[in-house]
Amino acid sequence: EKGGHDYFMLKEIEEQPEALANTLRGHFVDGRIVLDEQRMADQDLRDVDKVFVIACGTAYHSGLVAKYAIEHWTRLPVEVELASEFRYRDPVLDRDTLVVAISQSGETADTLEAVRHAREQKARVLAICNTNGAQIPRESDAVLYTHAGPEVGVAATKTFLAQIAANFLVGLALAQARGTKYSDEVAREFHELEQMPAAVSQVLQTVDSVRALGRQLADSKAVLFLGRHVGYPVALEGALKLKELAYMHAEGFAAGELKHGPIALIEQDLPVVVVMPSPKGRAVLHAKLLSNISEIQARGARTIVIAEEGDETVRPFADELIEVPQVPTLLQPLVSTVPLQVLAAEIARARGYDVDKPRNLAKSVTVE
Ligand code: M6R
Repeated sequence: EKGGHDYFMLKEIEEQPEALANTLRGHFVDGRIVLDEQRMADQDLRDVDKVFVIACGTAYHSGLVAKYAIEHWTRLPVEVELASEFRYRDPVLDRDTLVVAISQSGETADTLEAVRHAREQKARVLAICNTNGAQIPRESDAVLYTHAGPEVGVAATKTFLAQIAANFLVGLALAQARGTKYSDEVAREFHELEQMPAAVSQVLQTVDSVRALGRQLADSKAVLFLGRHVGYPVALEGALKLKELAYMHAEGFAAGELKHGPIALIEQDLPVVVVMPSPKGRAVLHAKLLSNISEIQARGARTIVIAEEGDETVRPFADELIEVPQVPTLLQPLVSTVPLQVLAAEIARARGYDVDKPRNLAKSVTVE
């Protein structure tokens, strides 16, 4: 049942192309995005004037990625918040607020309470969930299921990619309903998304060198992760995977914050993973990150760089280079996260830990 692997998590990492394809399937019909499990009329989507995304852990990181796409496509303000913070605040919501609650299990206590809190204030709630009939979709106005299949490993992997895809569908449906994108643009974005299972398969074929690197890093005391723009939530997710699986100190930072504190942590041989944007897609950000890497390299860090294939400019700054296929900027997290999952799993295995059942953690957090 582990598909020839020692752990479910390793099988689930490999299932990501399928998880993505299954999540997208059936949602583009006759030239339009359809969210068929959605019980929300087009008119409701047209009236939305603000979006809140609420979630915990990895699901929260998928929401951070979604913010870039939804704001870009719809010109609606999007706030992404941890459910455990949202539920104890007094957020400004009304019936034109769309709350997207993301939860793999659909049972996370804080996310459920945040959904209740939002609905009390008349906001409309759309759940993104991987578990049929779970409590969060039951208490929401509408649901969009990720069809990633059961995820047994405590660390979320394939559901993260599926959640990003589902969020993107919501963004495109909003853009379509509000007319902020022409139908041919919506179609183009959807077709780009449809190419992603193949791109993720390509990454999976090249992760042997990441495994070897993981074994080399097993004795490190800490690992830092840097990213900008959509690479920032990827950095946070890479750090979370490493904490929960390898019990290693790991922090994700927005690269622009380096000089505001974190650079003081850089010391000789400290592994720093940098998620590079595309040199063509985001030339300005790319140049900024190159300068960030040169600063940390100058202070002796061991730079591990995830960059787009063919990005020659980054080579001099990369002690280790992990290449991912060229994809549109907003979709880059779907490819750049995969090596970080493999890296965390491999470091944890080299340290002798059970990657399916990390200590102190439960697959779904039903207590607060
Ligand atoms: O079931 P949920 O998506 O609501 O779970 C949220 C988090 O507990 C979950 O993503 C957690 O952070 C994972 N173990 C991370 O790998």
